Amino acid sequence: MSSVFARRKLLGILSSSWVAQACYAVAKLGLPDAMAAGPRPVAELAAECGADPRVLNRLLRAMVSMGLFRQTAPQTYALTSVTEFLRSDVPASLRQMAVLDGEEVFRSFADIMHTVRTGSPAFESIYGEPFYAYLAGQPQLAATFAEAMNGAQVSATLALGDLTGVTRLVDVGGGSAGLLTEALLRYPALRGVLLELPEAVRQAKTTVTEAGVEDRAELVEGDFFEAVPAGGDAYVLARVLHNWTDERAELILRKVREAMTTDGAPGGRLIVLEQLLPEAEIEPGPGKGMVDLLMLVLMEGHDRTQADYRRLLERAGFALRTVRHGSGPDADSMLEAVPA
Ligand SMILES: C[S@@+](CC[C@H](N)C(=O)[O-])C[C@H]1O[C@@H](n2cnc3c(N)ncnc32)[C@H](O)[C@@H]1O
Repeated sequence: MSSVFARRKLLGILSSSWVAQACYAVAKLGLPDAMAAGPRPVAELAAECGADPRVLNRLLRAMVSMGLFRQTAPQTYALTSVTEFLRSDVPASLRQMAVLDGEEVFRSFADIMHTVRTGSPAFESIYGEPFYAYLAGQPQLAATFAEAMNGAQVSATLALGDLTGVTRLVDVGGGSAGLLTEALLRYPALRGVLLELPEAVRQAKTTVTEAGVEDRAELVEGDFFEAVPAGGDAYVLARVLHNWTDERAELILRKVREAMTTDGAPGGRLIVLEQLLPEAEIEPGPGKGMVDLLMLVLMEGHDRTQADYRRLLERAGFALRTVRHGSGPDADSMLEAVPA
């Protein structure tokens, strides 16, 4: 890479948080929703969304230069295929992800020096409590978080596993039931159970009802450190374990194992969906390593290698049977384990 290109690349990286915060501002204002039907004059948008028209014009003009909006006439703007995802009403919407990233995540990263110096999450030093404990007392944030998680793509990850023959699937920490709903739609004889915190369960009710699978879905409010619903023949932990330290992750796994072996049919299996860190040196590429950094700044969790997961599963009384990798460098992998 030439030094001119390298320096330009670094400059782009250094200002990337400005672009992300500009996306946050338009998402928070609800501008993409107001522009869903087509181009709109900035004066109208400003009046509707509660912004200063001159400032909004400068904001949108800057975002045109990044390919995030199109200018269709003087002072008139339209969404691009990228900012379409900042609308609330599109499948896999990223609007609430933009809000979460622009508020609590951004504030936490602003204090990354605290994490680097002390090893403890910046989030905790700013908000005074661990991430999920804080969320429990903040209904608005809990709603934003649950919606942001629902925006994550589930189809590709679900495709990693074959649920043929499974009768009762328990998704532990399954967010707003995106993955569970996808499974229920794909397998018409399947029944599903979701274990989640209250706000996610509230949103899950809407998800399963809108998809018409509510009669096969049982939504359970609870704490996976206390107990996990018994009687499933398959349990899913999707992007849950990387939120926690090894000790806490082991406790979750033990609770799942307890549920599988109490009155669950023998032969039950556990499906863990996570991004894996490479065993050897990390290669440049999207995703890997950065989510681990996010876990470090927000909570005491971390990403793991396949060998780390094997050890963790073994300590909790599971045997790792199969591992399948999704395609693409930032895809999740599926680890299937059975009680040892
Ligand atoms: C990173 S999200 C993953 C959500 C979902 N499985 C997915 O893949 O999109 C972790 C989930 O764990 C849930 N969670 C956190 N603590 C929990 C607890 N003590 N009991 C049950 N669920 C919990 C959160 O509400 C959140 O939805």
